[in-house]
Amino acid sequence: MEEERRLSSSSEAAERPLGIVARGLTKSFDGGLVHALRGTDLEIQPGERIAITGPTGCGKSTLLSILALLERQDGGELIVGGRPAEGIRSPERWRGRHLGIVFQFHHLLPHLTVEENVMLPLVGVGARSTDARRRARSILRDIGLAHRARFVAEKLSGGERQMTAVARALAGSPGLILADEPTGNVDSKAGDRVLELLFGRRGNRPATVVVVTHNDRVAGDADRILRMRDGRIDGRG
Ligand SMILES: Nc1ncnc2c1ncn2[C@@H]1O[C@H](COP(=O)(O)OP(=O)(O)OP(=O)(O)O)[C@@H](O)[C@H]1O
Ligand SMILES: [Mg+2]
Repeated sequence: MEEERRLSSSSEAAERPLGIVARGLTKSFDGGLVHALRGTDLEIQPGERIAITGPTGCGKSTLLSILALLERQDGGELIVGGRPAEGIRSPERWRGRHLGIVFQFHHLLPHLTVEENVMLPLVGVGARSTDARRRARSILRDIGLAHRARFVAEKLSGGERQMTAVARALAGSPGLILADEPTGNVDSKAGDRVLELLFGRRGNRPATVVVVTHNDRVAGDADRILRMRDGRIDGRG
C-alpha cells in the first residue's frame, strides 16, 4: 500500500512545478583560479520553460549543478520551490522527489539495461518494480527507444544514451527538470521527440524545465531564453 502511494505521488500525480530564485550566485574552482559563476541572478516561475544559452565555459553546467543541489555555491542565495537551498537537509532525497536531471555526459549505469536505467528514479522512491517497469516502457515508447529497452546502456550509441537519460529524467514526473544539452547528439527527428517530451507537449504534466543548449531551435521552443556570459546572465534573468 505504502509503495503504491509513493508510486502514485512520484509518477501518476505529478509533483507541482517548482519556481527558482537565485541572487548573486558565485562559484569558483581550483582555489579561486577559475571563476565559473560571478554573480548569477535569475528568477524562474513555476511551470516556465527556459533555455539557457552561452559560449563554452561560461558557467552553464556549473549553474545547473547548483540548481540541482549537486554543488553548493560559494556565495549568493538560492531558493527552489519556495525553500532556501541551504535549508534542504537531504539534497539526495529532495532530488529523488522533485527533480529530473539530464547531465551533459549522460551518467547512465553502463551494466544496466535501458529499461532498468529509466526505472531507477521510481524504484528509488519506493515504486513496485512492475509499476516502474510499466512506466519506463511507456516513456521509452514515447521517446522512440522501445526497441532498445533490453540493451545494456554501454552498447548504446551516443544519441541513444542521451535519449535514455531524458527518459530517466521524465520517469517520475518531477516538478523540476534540468537538462544539459539534451539534444546534442541526436538527429533532428529524435531531437524533436526529446523536446516535445521535455517541454511537456506530449501529454506530460506541467513541470518547470531548464534546458541548456547551443541549439537555436531548442531555444526557440522555450518560453524564455536566458543568455549567459562569463558566469552571469546577460540582461534580466
Ligand atoms: N570541477 C571543476 N573544477 C575546476 N574547474 C571547473 C570545474 N567545473 C567547471 N570548471 C570550470 O568552470 C568554467 C565553467 O564550466 P562549465 O562546465 O560550467 O561551462 P559550460 O558553460 O557548461 O561550458 P560548455 O558549453 O562547454 O558545456 C570552465 O572554465 C570550467 O573549466
Ligand atoms: Mg556544460
